Amino acid sequence: MKNVVLVFSFGLVIASFFSFRMKPSFDLKASIARGKEIYTAQCMNCHMEQGEGMEGVYPPLAKSNFLANRDRLIKIVLKGMRGPIKVNGKDYDSEMVGFELTDEQASDVINYVRNSWGNKHVAVQPSEIAAGLGTKSAEYTPY
Ligand code: HEC
Repeated sequence: MKNVVLVFSFGLVIASFFSFRMKPSFDLKASIARGKEIYTAQCMNCHMEQGEGMEGVYPPLAKSNFLANRDRLIKIVLKGMRGPIKVNGKDYDSEMVGFELTDEQASDVINYVRNSWGNKHVAVQPSEIAAGLGTKSAEYTPY
């Protein structure tokens, strides 16, 4: 009996080792698909279906110059922002509250907006969210 338990637990250790080793690399396509649902529910009211926003009121996300800076974008989504900004050459001076999202949800919605409407940027993984929140970014005032 003791041997059976030993062999079994040894097998478990081996199995978990290999399942860890064989973990697939980050699936950006799946993340973008999940992100689209979050966007539709939480962001689309203001930033609109094609990320076009509303001139003078809600800044656009399509081709927005606020998407390339990963850390600032993480903070905008989770902590919100306020004050004057220039997006694609047009002025906005308003505010947006931050959203309560898990690291995975935040990375998903970020991957969606960074890879839609002509935008193309590298994937942001859930493990990068916390680090991004801790950095300082120029041209950014939290809500
Ligand atoms: C209630 C309306 C509203 C909602 C909902 C909203 N935003 Fe915003 N967002 C704004 C406003 C207004 C600004 C500009 C704030 C300022 O002037 O400082 C902004 C700014 C931004 C910016 C930086 C400027 C730009 O256009 O690139 C990003 C990125 C952004 N929002 C992403 C999101 C994401 C992602 C969501 C959903 C998780 C979201 N927003 C939900 C109103 C909203």
